Amino acid sequence: MEFNRVVGTRRSIRFFKSWRPVEREKLQVMFEAANRASRSMNADYFRAIVVNRDDLDAETRDALRNPTTTADLDLAPTYIFWYIDMNYVEGAQDRLKALVDQNALSAAHGWSRAYVDDFLWPQVLEPISKDMSAVLFMGAVETGIAICNALNAAVDQGLGTCMHAFTANETMKSLLGVPDTWFPVWLQLVGYPAEEPEAGGQRPRNPISTLFFEGHTSRPFEEDPEVTERLKREGMLQTPGPFPYRAQEVKMLSRMYGLPE
Ligand SMILES: Cc1cc2nc3c(=O)[nH]c(=O)nc-3n(C[C@H](O)[C@H](O)[C@H](O)COP(=O)(O)O)c2cc1C
Repeated sequence: MEFNRVVGTRRSIRFFKSWRPVEREKLQVMFEAANRASRSMNADYFRAIVVNRDDLDAETRDALRNPTTTADLDLAPTYIFWYIDMNYVEGAQDRLKALVDQNALSAAHGWSRAYVDDFLWPQVLEPISKDMSAVLFMGAVETGIAICNALNAAVDQGLGTCMHAFTANETMKSLLGVPDTWFPVWLQLVGYPAEEPEAGGQRPRNPISTLFFEGHTSRPFEEDPEVTERLKREGMLQTPGPFPYRAQEVKMLSRMYGLPE
């Protein structure tokens, strides 16, 4: 799929073909996409553990439920638990110097091995590594960027996916062998959509002019109608929901799975 269509087609899928497993190779593509995500210090901010739903017993699965993560856990065959590795700053000096060595970072922008060793590490990065709110803040941003790539790679391969809050309890932690330095963030559910991939139409979004500004907050970034039309043709902007038959779609899927209507 073309990039614009992937972005436009992605939406949160909550009805999965519960019987159809996700091919391992598709997971690999998602993980490579996540691993290509931009990241400051070229650090490995995230860790993720993929689990087959059917490898978890009913009690363990039930313990993951919370007010916003419910029947989804029964329908999605594949769970990806995302974490921040709170030790991600470790090795930043060496990683940055490796970037200097390959001229990804160059003297043109003030970089050198000495700049990393004598200034950046002691003055900026090491202090960050000791500031827990900075570690969490950066870890959440960078993990989110990686997750975004994984979401889009899933959609590109015809999969459905949705992010979820999950209850990170001690049983789960020990079952998955999660180290103490990993901070739980989100659960990504993956599978083949049982609903149409459009899931009833694109979700409501405010116009970009309410979110983006040019030079000053008093000047909204106004869209060019020709670009908007092109994005419609290329699939980034799609028919907004709800499709006229969406309520019926949800009703029939709920009935099929014995869920409340
Ligand atoms: C980080 C994150 C956490 C989310 N957590 C939940 C959740 O716990 N339960 C849920 O049903 N949807 C969850 N969602 C999905 C959002 O509700 C959904 O993205 C939003 O309604 C917009 O719809 P769209 O993803 O189809 O564009 C989450 C999404 C993100 C990005």
